[in-house]
This record gives sequence, C-alpha cells and structure tokens, in this order.
Amino acid sequence: STSNPLANYSTELHDDQADKVDKYLHNLQLSDKTLMDVSLRFRREMDKGLCRDTNPTAAVKMLPTFVRSTPDGTEQGEFLALDLGGSNFRVLLVKVMGNGEQKVEMESQIYDIPEHIMRGSGSEFFDHIADCLANYLDKMGMKDKKLPLGFTFSFPCQQTKLDEAVLMSWTKGFRSSGVEGHDVVSLLRKSIKKRGDFDIDIVAVVNDTVGTMMTCGFDDRHCEVGLIVGTGTNACYMEQMRNIGVLDGDEGRMCVNTEWGAFGDDGALEDLRTDIDRELDAGSFNPGKQLFEKMISGMYMGELVRLILVKMARSQLLFQGKTTSELLTTGHFSTSHIYAIENDKDEEGIASAEKILRSLGLDPSVEDCIATRRVCQIVSTRAAHLCASSLASVLRQIRDNKAAEKLRVTIGVDGSVYKNHPEFSRRLNKMVRRLVPDCDVRFLQSQDGSGKGAAMVTAVAFRLANQKAE
Ligand code: GLC
Repeated sequence: STSNPLANYSTELHDDQADKVDKYLHNLQLSDKTLMDVSLRFRREMDKGLCRDTNPTAAVKMLPTFVRSTPDGTEQGEFLALDLGGSNFRVLLVKVMGNGEQKVEMESQIYDIPEHIMRGSGSEFFDHIADCLANYLDKMGMKDKKLPLGFTFSFPCQQTKLDEAVLMSWTKGFRSSGVEGHDVVSLLRKSIKKRGDFDIDIVAVVNDTVGTMMTCGFDDRHCEVGLIVGTGTNACYMEQMRNIGVLDGDEGRMCVNTEWGAFGDDGALEDLRTDIDRELDAGSFNPGKQLFEKMISGMYMGELVRLILVKMARSQLLFQGKTTSELLTTGHFSTSHIYAIENDKDEEGIASAEKILRSLGLDPSVEDCIATRRVCQIVSTRAAHLCASSLASVLRQIRDNKAAEKLRVTIGVDGSVYKNHPEFSRRLNKMVRRLVPDCDVRFLQSQDGSGKGAAMVTAVAFRLANQKAE
C-alpha cells in the first residue's frame, strides 16, 4: 500500500480524526479496571435487591418471577401469547411439540399501538390490546376455543404469583395513565370481559428476559440467563430460593428479573456518567430513571451520538462549526443509523455516514464522516462493555451458588441492538470472557424469544400442573 499515496493519505486522515474524537470522548472509554469495578458494584446492588431489609430502597429491584423451572423439553400443547414492550406489539399462536423432537411452530401478527393510545388512559390501552387479540382470533377462526395465554409484558412488575403482575413504573417511553400500581392481568381480563365475544385463560405474565431464557432453555438445558439488548436492556437468571430474601421458602430455584436498567438511579454510577448522559436524561420522558439503560439500549444510543455531534459542532470540531435544525431535533439520529455507519466494510460505513449526515441537512467533509463513525464506535462500545460488566456479575453469582470451579452456562439473548448492530455481540462476548475468564459462556440468540417464551412458561406451568394431577 506504500505505493499508493492516496491510501496512505487516507489512513493518516483516518488516524487524525480518530485521535481527535478519542481525546474529546475520553470519558466514554472505560478501561478493563473500571469495568471490573462496575461489575463489583453491580454485584453489591444485586445483593441489596435480594435482601429483605435492603430491598425497599434498592435501585436494582431483583424481582421474583414465580418461574421455578426451565423447560425440560417434554412440554407440549397449543398456546396464545402477547408480546408487549419491545419495538413491536405482537399476538402469537405457538405450538409446542416437545415429545422427542423439541419442535416449536408459531404464527404471529404485528399490531400498531397508535400514539394517542400510548398516551391515553389505561383502560383505552387494554381495550386496544383486547381488540387486537379479537382480530387475531377472528382471523385464525379460533374465537370459541378457550386457549391458555402467556403475556410477555416487558416492564418492572411486582409479582406474587405467575398470573398477577403489578406494574411498578413504565419504562422506554410508554406512558399510558392509571396502569402503574395496578395488576395488568386484571386490566386485560376486564377489557376482554367487557367485549364479551371471546374468552381466554391468562396463565402467566413474564418479562421479555424470562421469555428469552425459557425459549433458549427449550433447546439448551444449560440456559439459565436471559438477556435483552433492544429498545431497553435487562437480564434475568435462575437464583436459589434461599438467596431470595423477599420470599419465604428455601427449596429449589426461581428466576429473578434483575431490572438492571435502573442501576445507578440511586447515584451509584455518578462518577461514570458524562455531561452527555445527563443531557440525554434531562430530555427524556423519565428523568432520573433507568440511568444504566440510558447508557446502553437502542432507545437512547442514537440520541447520545446526536448530542455528541451537536456538541462537537459547537466546539468547531465538526461540520465547520455548523449545525442544522434537523441535527438539533431530538430523535433525528436513530440507533439504526449507527448500525449502518459501523458497517464492517470501511468504505460502506463512511458512505452511510455521508448519506445520513446529508439527510440531516449537513454538508460533511470526509473528515466529518470519519469522525462521526468514530463517535458511533465509542458510544456503542461503551454500551457493550457496560452490559458485559453487569452480565459478569450475574455469572459470578450463579457460579458462587453452584460452588463450581468452572461454570458452564448458556445465555439466551434477544433484542434489536444485539441482533442488528454489526459489532455489538462480538464486543460483548469478548469483554464478558475477559471479566469472567473462569467461565464457559455460550451466547444463544433466540428466534422471537420474548413472545414464544411466554407460551413456553405457560407450557411448563401446564406440564407441572398435569404432573401434580397424575
Ligand atoms: C426495560 C424494562 C424491562 C425490560 C427491558 C428490555 O428495561 O423495564 O422490564 O426487560 O426494558 O425490554
């Protein structure tokens, strides 16, 4: 390449721009030592959430899910599922054929939740969900079959049994009023009853992390962690009952929904949060809440990049100091732009950067495009590494529970960021292995895990109920 002056020039150009951005964003680049420290802090937060005395004031809620066992592969039957809280609202029909072949078949339909319903009252919200369910049953010609239903509801909920879930607080921009503090199963049952044209047996409410763990668990018996990096981020894992201080009983295990998105809401991450994180939080629907999630998940990653670009332009480091009204508008730099810009082929990524910046009314130079790409890399790498830190704590907890020298564990994963970002999964996997070297970790990407998983929980509940009856 030394014979090609242009190639040299462009490498230099690249290094210069990368250096400039690296210096500007040094606060967002976390060393292994810092990440290990974050991991230790998260482990303490887990303890705080699990312990009966400290739970009421813990930021990380460690919620019992009443899911006590992962699938054993013999589950079977036909189930309905609702999946609410990710990028789409879906109704699913899932056939589980566990006998020997471990097969799952499903059909699903995406429904829209219009903005005015998102912002409206809780009863309108659940009426709309019942409408969608009715539409689906009509379409499938199943309105008079009373099928068991699993409800994936991906928000922090207090549960006292499998089919009751009191919403603690909305996250990820959902805002419907009069739902917080109420059992979402009762609300849905009420809306269905009001219609009177079909009947459904709501058996289980599960978080998307739990659904994902259960879906992967059907194929892999070592799966005892569920991870989501999508619109939001969160994880669940199988915990020993004796460690769940908020529940009576010491026998066996139960899945715990960590709700790690709220890590830092009590100030535990203030030394790591930057001006940009504070600015993003101040402009969000839920200031002061879900602070860890706001450094990681798809709902916020693009916005972090946008805020950085604006700040750098204002410091004359980009776009010759110019900004445009589009660049200055919240939400105009989406996380999917980051996927395109971090495309593994250099030229394609830079070309995408140019196209996206132009669509924001800017007139970027090659240098601007290279620098923008570097900003995306730094923001998404920090996200993957922070996620690795909390995941490492969960793995260490499981290992300590088993008193195992070397733990073998599978992590079921789902979510738009994990699936669509070209580098996120690789960076996450690599850092997890660095933070817990004495652990044999497998990441298993689930197909439609969150929705299918609700059906799987329902199927397991059915199998256990039938075993008892026998
Ligand atoms: C948010 C929700 C959590 C969910 C996660 C991923 O953090 O509070 O319940 O699991 O998003 O969708």
